[in-house]
Amino acid sequence: MRIYFHSQATKPAPWIDALRSALPEAEVAEWSPGAPPADYAVVWHPPQQLLDEQPGLKALFNIGAGVDALMKLNLPAGLRVVRLDDAGMSVQMAEYVCHALIRHVREFDIFEHEAKQGRWGYRRPRARGDYPVGLMGLGVLGARVAQAVRQFEFPVNGWSRTPRPLEGVRCFAGRGQFDDFLSASRVLVCLLPLTPDTEGILDRRSLGRLMPGGYLINVARGAHLVEPDLLALLDEGHLAGATLDVLREEPPPPDHPFLRHPRITLTPHNSARTLREESIAQIAGKIRALGRGEPVAGVVDPVRGY
Ligand code: NAP
Ligand code: GLV
Repeated sequence: MRIYFHSQATKPAPWIDALRSALPEAEVAEWSPGAPPADYAVVWHPPQQLLDEQPGLKALFNIGAGVDALMKLNLPAGLRVVRLDDAGMSVQMAEYVCHALIRHVREFDIFEHEAKQGRWGYRRPRARGDYPVGLMGLGVLGARVAQAVRQFEFPVNGWSRTPRPLEGVRCFAGRGQFDDFLSASRVLVCLLPLTPDTEGILDRRSLGRLMPGGYLINVARGAHLVEPDLLALLDEGHLAGATLDVLREEPPPPDHPFLRHPRITLTPHNSARTLREESIAQIAGKIRALGRGEPVAGVVDPVRGY
C-alpha cells in the first residue's frame, strides 16, 4: 500500500513519520509531481496536479474538517473524499465559542479597560436569558458547541439544513425557518461548511434580523461573511461586536478595517486546530476499515459539498 502526504501549511516530516508508525505495512512518502500511483493521499489544499496524476486513489483524506478547498478542484468521478471527523477539534471549538460568548456577555473588555484606567466600577449584571445563542450548523462541531453553551444555561437555538433534534436546543431547519431562527437569537455563531448555498450567508439581511445589540462569532470560513455589511451594522449600532477567527483573506492585508476596529476581536484561524496524533490515528483506522471493506464516517457528499 502506498500513501502520499501533501500540505504546504505544515512540515511534512512529522506527519510522514507518524503515518509510518501508525501503518508500518504502508510505503509513505511526500507527494511530488510525477510520483508513481498511490492507494491513498493525505492532504491539505493539494494542487490540481496531484489529483490529475493520481486518478486511481481509493480515498483522499483531508487533514481538516472543512473541504471547501477540495470541492473547488476537479476531482476524479467517484473519488471518496474523507474529512476529519472531530479528531480533537470539537472540544477546542466549544472552548473558543464559550470564551468569546462569555467575554462579551460578562463585559470583560470593559472591566479590563476600566481597571487599566484605575477605575473600579460596578455594572448591572446582564441576564443570560437575554442572550439567546443561535448556532448555524449542528454537525460534529456545532452539536458539541451547543452542549457546552447549554452548560452555562444560555438559551440555545440551532439551525441546520435538515432537522437535527438536540436535547435542550430549539431547532430550526432549512431556509424556510432561517428568519425565525435569526430573530430568536442575539449571539450568532457560524459553524457551517462553506458551500455555494452558504457563501455570503452572513450579510446585512441575515445579521440585520438578529435581536438588537447582536453579536457575531464566525469560526467557520471567512467567505461566509460579507465584510462591509458587518462594518455597516456595527456603525449603525444594530450589532454590538464580533469575534472572528476567519477572514476572506488570511492573513489580512495590513490596512484591513477589522484589524483595528474597537469592537472586533480577531484570531488567526486557530479556533480548532488539527491535532496530528488524533488525526493520524483516525485516518489510519479508516484506511484499515476501508481495506476490510467497511464503511467509514466523514465521507463527503459531492452533491451537498460537505
Ligand atoms: P459537519 O459535521 O458537516 O456539520 C455541518 C452542519 O452544517 C450540519 O448540521 C449541516 O446540516 C449544516 N449545513 C450545511 N449546509 C447548510 C445549509 N445550506 N443550511 C443550513 N445548514 C447547513 O461539519 P463540522 O465538522 O461541524 O464543521 C463545520 C465547519 O467548521 C467546517 O466545514 C469548517 O469550515 C469549519 N471549521 C473551522 C475551523 C477553524 O479553525 N476555524 C476548524 C474546523 C472546522 P445537516 O445536519 O442537515 O447536514
Ligand atoms: C479548519 O479550518 C478545518 O476546516 O479543519
